[in-house]
Amino acid sequence: SHPQKKSAPQSSASCKDCRENINKVLELYSGAWKKQEASYQTFRSQLSTKCHGFEKATITQTNTPVGTKLVYDGDRKRTLQVNLEIFSTFYKGHPFPNKTWHTCAVVGNGGILANSSCGKMIDSAEFVIRCNLPPLSNGYEKHVGIKTDLVTANPSILLEKFGGLMGRRRMFVESLRSYSHSLLLLPAFSFAHNTPVSLRAFYTLEDFKSPIRPIFFNPGYLKSLALFWRSQGLRTVRLSTGIIMTSLALELCDNVQLYGFWPFDVHPHSFQTLTNHYYDDRKTKTKFHAMPDEFNHLLRLHTQGVLKLHLGECK
Ligand code: CDP
Repeated sequence: SHPQKKSAPQSSASCKDCRENINKVLELYSGAWKKQEASYQTFRSQLSTKCHGFEKATITQTNTPVGTKLVYDGDRKRTLQVNLEIFSTFYKGHPFPNKTWHTCAVVGNGGILANSSCGKMIDSAEFVIRCNLPPLSNGYEKHVGIKTDLVTANPSILLEKFGGLMGRRRMFVESLRSYSHSLLLLPAFSFAHNTPVSLRAFYTLEDFKSPIRPIFFNPGYLKSLALFWRSQGLRTVRLSTGIIMTSLALELCDNVQLYGFWPFDVHPHSFQTLTNHYYDDRKTKTKFHAMPDEFNHLLRLHTQGVLKLHLGECK
């Protein structure tokens, strides 16, 4: 079923707006995709000039010395002065090599990934980025792959699933085994309440000698990224993890491929009902995130040949 020849049937979509939106998306998405080197270079240099993701996306002992006053990006009234103890948890060296990766896969958690057979294609990327500690086993491998070079973790997961790491912590360390020696990127300085639990995650991984390498988002980078996307016309309270990781990938990789980005509840080709995530149906907090608006920006970048958005099955 080629998307060009079909439009969403009147009865299968859950709301009129979604149906219209999906038809518009399919119109823009159809046709062969080709990377447009000039558009990619322009967008990338805008991003790196305004956000400096390569040097500033994460906190390191080099870019954040003792005495630095960190401003929480989610609550600009709160600050934290870096003392020796906190400094000792900062990443030593530079997390990214001084060359761009050939291909990066950014894997969102959208239900569109279920039954996509995209696992092999995702795993063939040189660098694979995942969001919010998603499950990779129990049959998901075939559709989402297993390779992980960087995975983010929202502290809310640590609170809900692992008791905030206040009690037994082995389960947390074991649950991270599926990500081998990946970087674990935590927004430790986005809100003040994120800091203690993120530090406990760091201490836990160190104490259990886990190969996982914890690292913190730099709140200054997240702030500049929010301003960048606002200047692009995106209005949202908080950027989603997916668009943050896509932005970083555009600075670090020559070819950026997106999977699992589809914030609608109907499949674009089969028109079947979708769950919000490929592994559960927990809804996005629309109070904070504007995923459909974000998606429109990602779709624009796809049509401009800046990145490639995968919506179909991978054969
Ligand atoms: O925590 P957050 O809501 O940002 O993310 P998530 O639900 O764990 O999903 C990771 C990312 O995948 C999101 O930040 C979105 O960018 C993307 N996503 C999507 O595009 N469509 C969906 N139905 C679900 C997630």
